[in-house]
This record gives sequence, C-alpha cells and structure tokens, in this order.
Amino acid sequence: MVDKVWRNFQTQLKKIKSLDGLEEVEIKFLGRKGQVNKLFQQLAKIPASQKRRQGQAINELKQKITKALAKKKEQLQLRLADELAQENFDVTQPGREQQLGHLHPITQMKWEIGDIFRRMGFEIFEPQEVSDDYNNFGALNIPAGHPARDLWDTFWTREGYIPITHTSSMQNWIYRHRRPPIRAVVIGRCFRHEATDASHEHTFHQIEGVYVDENVTVANLIETMRVFLSAFYGKEMEIKVRPSYFPFVEPGLEIAMKCVFCNGKGCSVCKNSGWIEILGAGEIHPRVLREGGIDPEKYSGFAWGLGLERLIMLRYGIEDVRRFHRGDLRFLRQF
Ligand code: PHE
Repeated sequence: MVDKVWRNFQTQLKKIKSLDGLEEVEIKFLGRKGQVNKLFQQLAKIPASQKRRQGQAINELKQKITKALAKKKEQLQLRLADELAQENFDVTQPGREQQLGHLHPITQMKWEIGDIFRRMGFEIFEPQEVSDDYNNFGALNIPAGHPARDLWDTFWTREGYIPITHTSSMQNWIYRHRRPPIRAVVIGRCFRHEATDASHEHTFHQIEGVYVDENVTVANLIETMRVFLSAFYGKEMEIKVRPSYFPFVEPGLEIAMKCVFCNGKGCSVCKNSGWIEILGAGEIHPRVLREGGIDPEKYSGFAWGLGLERLIMLRYGIEDVRRFHRGDLRFLRQF
C-alpha cells in the first residue's frame, strides 16, 4: 500500500508545472483527508504484530513526500524568476501615466475672473439662464416694440421665455435683493440666434458688473475696468472710452483696450487700429434703478458687460471662438 501511494505521488508530481498545481497535490496527499492520512486510518485494521513496522513505513513516506514537495517548490520558483528575467520585467519602472483630465478653460477663467472681482469687493452670481421678457428687456428700459430689441438676436421658447441674450437680465433681480452700496458681478452663459463664425457663437459667456452707491461716476467705472484688465492680463493696461448706446445706461460707453498683440502699433488682430473693443458699459439709467426699487435721486451707479471668450482669446492668441465647444483634446490639454 505504502509503495503504491509513493508511485502514485511521483507520477502526479512530474506533471506539475505551476505553484498552484503543486498545492493541489500537497492537499491530495498530505491534507486532512489525503492519501497519507488514509493509510494511518487503515492501521487500525491490520494485525497488531505488523502495526509498528507499517506505522514506521507510513511516517517515512510522509517525510519523503514533504521533502519532494519542498524541492519541487524551489524548482518552480526558480523557473518563474528565470521567466520574468527573460521578459525584461523591470520592477523599478514608474507606472503608466494616467490622464485624469482637468477643468475646461472657460471654467478656469470664470473662477479666476471671479476671484479678481471678489478681491475688489464684488459679490459673484450666476445668471438664471432661462428668463423672461421683463428681466431680459422690460426692466432694462426696453419696452415691447422698442427698436433697440433688434440689438439682440433673441431665442424665444414656445411659452414665451427667453434663454438670456445678455447677463444684464440679472440687473433687476440684483437691485431688488441688495441694498446700496451694491457691488455685484454675474458670470454665465448667454444665447443668441447668430450665424456662427470665428468670432460669433450662439452660446457664449458674459461678465456683468453693477456698482450702485452715492456719488458714483463714470470715472469709477473706467478705473474699475482698468484695474480688472491689468489684473487679468498681468500688466498695466491702457484703455480708451468711446460713446455708445444701450437703453439701460446713460451715457453709454464702449471701452477698448490697447491691443495685447502689437501693443498699440497696429496688427491684423486689431485691424491696424491698435485698439480692441471689449465691453459695453455706462451709468445705469435712472429708470432702471427706479424699476429695481432704488431711488435715482439719491443713488447712481455704473454697469458693464464683458465677453468672457473674447478676453480669453486675447490672452492666449486663440483665433476661433468655436474651439471652446469642440471638445478637441489637443486644444483643451493646453490649459
Ligand atoms: N448687455 C449689453 C450687451 O450684451 C452690454 C452692457 C452691459 C452694456 C451693461 C451696458 C451695460 O450688449
């Protein structure tokens, strides 16, 4: 019996090629219900005179199997190490780089610009993206039928709501929910029914600002814009003011900054004028203040509307606004 188990063990051991297989054989022979233990159990049935010799033989078998298993294990481990060495497996190599992604450049700039205005004492808001006739136009001194409505190519929902055409749609809400002194900035998406091209998108972002207090003048507006632009572009910016028209400001202004590419000398970006127009602004119209529950006899203020994409394009020399929404990773990874 003992010999038969030994031969059986040897044939099985020869076939083993892996450490896992080795463990199986070990359980089969040395395990609790294994072959060797079965032999010990059979000892009870044999004549007393043979018990001692037979017991010794089984113990020897157990030792031989244990030794053989240990030897085989060592061989298998050595072979594994050899194989790994041949595969040129370098455990000191760093892992493969993970592409974790990052915030979209628009979001990064929104946050950065929000921080600049926060440092200047402004409170930051997001607009309600779908608003109504009153907030987008009526409360801003643009009654129904007013020709100035044509300044904005407006989308309307079937129910008569408006995806906001400008962040000025938040002005009335701000006047009604804050008391002077008011310093508020709204950064968010606007929508216009535009044919898109390199400088026009149907969906874009504006940065609206309102400042209301006693004795606020255009001089405060101009300086606020100059300080902001200098902070955003990281150098002292020169700006130029021209008259313009928006129904909700009086006087209305347009502000241009010295071209960041040619420093005012004239280039293709600024169409050789040396200046780039970046925002509409003005003194808040008394009717708009009154509509917001603020007494225009006591308070005055200024408001501005900046295009976010424009600011970013000028900072990085991006030539096409449509890049922001294309999802092209070669573009996005640069930020
Ligand atoms: N809302 C205007 C626009 O989108 C910009 C603007 C804002 C002008 C505030 C004056 C004051 O064209």
